[in-house]
Amino acid sequence: MKYKNIKVMKHITFLLDDTIRPGAVFDLDGSLLHVNNSFCKEFVNDREENIKEFFINPTVNHWDNVFSNLGETENKTFEVHIRLVGNRVEIVKMHLEYFDDVQQVIALFDVPQSTVDKSDKTYIHAFRNSDSFMVVIDRDGIIYDVNDLHTSFFNLPKDYFIGKTVGAIVKLFPDNSELIFNYFKDVNLYGFAEITTKYIRNVNDVNYYQITTLYDSESQTYLVRMNDRTEEMAMEKRLAHSNSLSTIGELAASIAHEIRNPMTTLKGFVQLLKISATADTMKYLSVIDEEIDRMEAILSEMLILSKPGVNEKTTFSLGVLVADMIQVVYPKALMDGITITQKENILKDSLIVGDSDKIKQVLLNLFKNAMEAMTPGGNLSIFVNLDSPGKVILGVSDTGKGMDKRQLKQVFLPFFTTKSDGSGLGLPFVLKNIEEHGGTVIVESEVGIGTTFIVTFPSALGHATMKDTAEKRVLSL
Ligand SMILES: Nc1ncnc2c1ncn2[C@@H]1O[C@H](COP(=O)(O)OP(=O)(O)OP(=O)(O)O)[C@@H](O)[C@H]1O
Ligand SMILES: [Mg+2]
Repeated sequence: MKYKNIKVMKHITFLLDDTIRPGAVFDLDGSLLHVNNSFCKEFVNDREENIKEFFINPTVNHWDNVFSNLGETENKTFEVHIRLVGNRVEIVKMHLEYFDDVQQVIALFDVPQSTVDKSDKTYIHAFRNSDSFMVVIDRDGIIYDVNDLHTSFFNLPKDYFIGKTVGAIVKLFPDNSELIFNYFKDVNLYGFAEITTKYIRNVNDVNYYQITTLYDSESQTYLVRMNDRTEEMAMEKRLAHSNSLSTIGELAASIAHEIRNPMTTLKGFVQLLKISATADTMKYLSVIDEEIDRMEAILSEMLILSKPGVNEKTTFSLGVLVADMIQVVYPKALMDGITITQKENILKDSLIVGDSDKIKQVLLNLFKNAMEAMTPGGNLSIFVNLDSPGKVILGVSDTGKGMDKRQLKQVFLPFFTTKSDGSGLGLPFVLKNIEEHGGTVIVESEVGIGTTFIVTFPSALGHATMKDTAEKRVLSL
């Protein structure tokens, strides 16, 4: 291939075009004048104008010196990192010869043999198909190859890595860059090192990667292997979480029990006072009475929830259960500045069959997630209806941060969480229990707008009772 309109000696181009080694002619600035076919075939060429552009990490000053002193220098063979076709970076030997009369340089390159034997093929196959993200780094710290998991681990193209220094990997962990930098120092020192670190793709997507690096003295390369340990870390967290939960559960149960006794006494005395009350004080006593009932209802829920599952099947009203559970989360909503709206209509008729304690936990998980997705001013809206024949439908909507398509796909997967203290087991529990009750669940969400979970259960009545839907703001702040 001819570059500039500068004359290159005909016999040189003739000889160059005949050789199987990549060859090029350039002037003392490195400006290319001619390259042979083999050069075009072996090296990635985006129509570069200067030979220096083919060198990975060129120190321009260094090459300027080399080229301008070629007449005097004895050593005319150099090793350069060059990107080869197939997106691999190789150390290539470059022999230079300077022709004083025309002030041109001829370069011939020794590209390492690309033929691979069977065992190499097996190795390459294992490398390409590994479950781990693998990076091969040469002895000078230049990334030589990566397998195809670069997208799933880092959502970055191959080009981000190939030909770059190990600093490109350090940069991926900005929060832990010092740690990772020291890690690679350890690799240099001991030939092996392992670390587990956080990779933050975005605030909603935090992964834990275990990085193991090994130096192979025979091939003089470093092999970096990254495994996704996000699930295991979540499991460990979950275990720690569930231990603390069971302690909290036991504590809650004993407190609930202790509070119940004095409340029974209070209730008794309120009844006594009512006998001798005037019309005025009667009003206050009735309020006290109702409030005690509410406190008792909440305590009963706490006791039930802290008890291990009993798996009793009964027929119960989903609407009534929803109203009870709203009472349980109401104090938290109040604290968080969140309003709860209930489209209340068919409370009694929304009968389903199953384990009401399990369904209570399903509701709590859905309400809790919705409230955690919102900031003060948000609204949690809940409805139960019988609009579909033979079905009881529950809707839980929030005006929270919502989810993108990627998150939506994963919400029911165990251990998927975007919360630092989340277990990612809330929604898998929800799904499992809804399905065990013969129901289905669908989610709709939009980032910045909110999320809606629609749960459908088979009705215990087997037919629908249509009633007017009246939206009623039951709890507003
Ligand atoms: N209403 C919602 N709005 C926005 N994101 C949600 C909503 N519900 C669930 N998610 C997303 O789904 C993930 C999984 O929810 P899940 O309930 O299974 O676990 P978690 O809430 O993270 O943890 P835990 O339930 O143990 O507190 C959440 O981390 C969150 O990213
Ligand atoms: Mg949850």
